[in-house]
Amino acid sequence: LFLIRVKTTFSAAHRLYKPELTDSENFKLYGKCSNPNGHGHNYDLEVAVAGKIDSSNGMVINFYEVSRLIDELIHDKVDHRNLNTDVDFMDGLIPTAENMALKFWEILVPHISEGKLFSISVGERGSNIVTYFGPDPNFSDIATAVQS
Ligand code: NI
Repeated sequence: LFLIRVKTTFSAAHRLYKPELTDSENFKLYGKCSNPNGHGHNYDLEVAVAGKIDSSNGMVINFYEVSRLIDELIHDKVDHRNLNTDVDFMDGLIPTAENMALKFWEILVPHISEGKLFSISVGERGSNIVTYFGPDPNFSDIATAVQS
């Protein structure tokens, strides 16, 4: 079983807040990410696809195909945008790294043609990283699915 990992970065602005809370309550919950006028992050994104090697071409999935999907479906929609206001698939969601990883998963999963989408990781500053394994991960199922 192989794990193919494709990394990229993007820059985006956000503000984490719940409108029903006061600024000081939001600060308690989200810290500096609740600053009223928003701020930017340089995000790290990693998409991992698990799969079996195809002996006819020596690959699990073409890295460039995964990169193209990430660029077209995610990067182009979030890079240099305001995640609270400019990104349709984040509408109504608090733009935490967790919610971003969840939406990125939903967007990518139908497009992964070889192997199985294994995880999506979103990092806010190198040190704070969220990894999402999908809504109902079962790692032995993944191993079985990619062998068949
Ligand atoms: Ni922030």
